[in-house]
Formats: sequence, structure tokens, C-alpha cells
Amino acid sequence: MNLFKAYQQAFESALEDFYRDQSTHNLYIPIQYLLDLGGKRIRPFLTLMAGEAYGLSAKETMGAAMAVEVFHNFTLMHDDIMDKAKLRRGKTTVHEKWDVNTAILSGDAMLIKAFQFLETYPNDIFQQLTRLLSKTAIEVCEGQQYDIDFETRTNTSEEEYIEMIRLKTAVLLGCALKMGAIIGNASEDDQQAIYDFGIQLGLAFQLQDDYLDTFGDQDKFGKKIGGDILVDKKTILYHLALKTANESQSKTLQSILGGNIQMDEEEKINKVKALFDATAARSATRDLIQHHSHLADIELEKLTMNEDQKNHFRDLKRWLINRTY
Ligand code: IPE
Ligand code: IPE
Ligand code: MG
Ligand code: MG
Ligand code: MG
Repeated sequence: MNLFKAYQQAFESALEDFYRDQSTHNLYIPIQYLLDLGGKRIRPFLTLMAGEAYGLSAKETMGAAMAVEVFHNFTLMHDDIMDKAKLRRGKTTVHEKWDVNTAILSGDAMLIKAFQFLETYPNDIFQQLTRLLSKTAIEVCEGQQYDIDFETRTNTSEEEYIEMIRLKTAVLLGCALKMGAIIGNASEDDQQAIYDFGIQLGLAFQLQDDYLDTFGDQDKFGKKIGGDILVDKKTILYHLALKTANESQSKTLQSILGGNIQMDEEEKINKVKALFDATAARSATRDLIQHHSHLADIELEKLTMNEDQKNHFRDLKRWLINRTY
């Protein structure tokens, strides 16, 4: 995306510095492999954008931007083990290319590295950033545990689902934005509003991820389409399907994703997909994404930054909720 080209260049060059500082120890090879597969770099862009809105250069926010992206990649490395995923960003996942032990340990190292990036800040800022990142990291773990619990539960509610994705995904987007605001010495009110904007953006973002996991194009998305269905994830599509499904559709869906049925993989994906289409799940997901996008707009209005700056955030949001990858 054009608007973010400058951020992209600054961030990729910071990554190069990071690789240069690192030894060629085997611990770091999978880290560089995963980071080099790219990805959208949304979280560091959010930090850089928030910093810019409060008068900072990319150089001043880059430590925090690196911290959030390296932390994010740590969660992906472990998430792919947990989700039995073989494909990430169009390439083989770390635990498949090497092995599970490698993905555990290189992931652990990335978690620690993320915190080390914050050491470049003066003590008072360092303390605020570290507190925010550790609170966020624990919440992500809680969200990931709920996500795994949901695989074997059939009585989950839409409210529980939203809370699960707030924890596993949205809080990190809020954290990325708030870090930029903290470094830029923004007011408490602005810090809160930009965080809350990140939460609503993050909810919409994860809903789009769920949508693409079933209805996306694998070549663009870079992850296996139907991957969530294969491991019985109770995504938003499942919850919204149950709202409008008739008795027989509900029964079928709950039994297929209830873990009790042995089925050919493609048959399972196609059956569930058809149910998501037959019920209103597919279009209701689009509506819910719009709803959280609107709630994000409301938070954005509270911020004291100028309209130009707000427009950058609006553009980013539009891109994220319409993305195909
Ligand atoms: C994937 O995040 C994990 C989710 C929270 C949905 P991204 O979609 O930001 O992944 P990359 O970094 O762009 O590959
Ligand atoms: C992402 O959830 C949450 C974290 C990685 C913390 P997903 O499991 O939906 O992410 P993808 O789809 O594998 O990227
Ligand atoms: Mg997961
Ligand atoms: Mg996953
Ligand atoms: Mg997903």
C-alpha cells in the first residue's frame, strides 16, 4: 500500500540491522526465516503512525515497532504448532520445516528479544512500555488458551468468542498504538482512546481473518483455506451460523465441529462451508466487521490529533477490513 511505503522501508531497514547484530547461531535461523517471509507489518505500522501523530520520527518509535512485530512473530511460531498449521505466509511453517522443539525455542527467544528492544528507551518510558507489553503478552496467552478450549467445547457463546479474540488479537493492536502515544507523551485520554481504537480495529481484523480462513483464496491468504474447520475452531462464522440455522443445520454443524465425526478433510471443509453459506453466517460476518469498524471510528473521533492524521488511520482500517491476505 502506497501510503505505508515509507514505513515499510524504515521498518525493513531496522530488521536488517537486527539480523546484522545477531550471530549465526542455529537459534536465530528460524527467526530470520519467519520474519523474512514478510507479512503485512500492521503492528509496527500502527506504532510508527501513532508516534508520527504525536510528532515523533520513525527513528524514535522504531524500538517499540520492532518489539511488537517480533512479539507478533513469536505468537505465530507457537500458534502454528497449536493450530497444526503447515502453511504460513505461503511457505512451510517453522515446526514443519525444522521441528516442534525448534519452533518452541526460537519462539521463546523472540519473546525475550521483543522486550530487549524496549531497553533503548529512557527509564520512565521503558517502564511504561514494558508494563504495557507484559500485560498484553499475558492477555494474548489467555486468549490463546480460550481459543484452544473452544476446539473441544460446543457451548461457546458469541460474547465469549468476542472476548477470546479481544485477548488473542485485539490487545496487541491496541498495545502497538498506545506505545506510539506513550513515547510521544500523549495525554492519558488520548492514550486510552487510541488503545480503544486498536481494540475495535483488532476485533474487525480478527473477524476478517476468520472470514478469509474459510472464504479466502489460498494463494493470496498464504494459509490453508479451511484450516480453522479442520481443527474444529469455533470462529465467528460458527457462532453466527447457529443464530439463524434450523434444527437440522445446527445439529449437523455442532456434530461436525464437535470432534466426534471422522471425515475426509476436504469433505469436512466443504460441508461446513456450505452450512456457513446456507445460514446467514457469511453475510452476517461482513455486517459485524462493519459494526466494529464503526465503533473504531467513534474512538478515533475522541483523539486530539488533526484530521489528516486521522485519515491515515481511516485508510489503514479500510485496507485491513477489505484485505484478501
Ligand atoms: C495473523 O496476523 C494472526 C492474527 C492475529 C489474525 P497477520 O494477519 O497480521 O499476519 P501477518 O503478520 O500479516 O502475516
Ligand atoms: C491468531 O489467531 C492469534 C495469535 C497468533 C496470537 P489465528 O490462529 O487465527 O491466527 P492465524 O490465522 O493462524 O494467523
Ligand atoms: Mg490460533
Ligand atoms: Mg493459527
Ligand atoms: Mg486465523
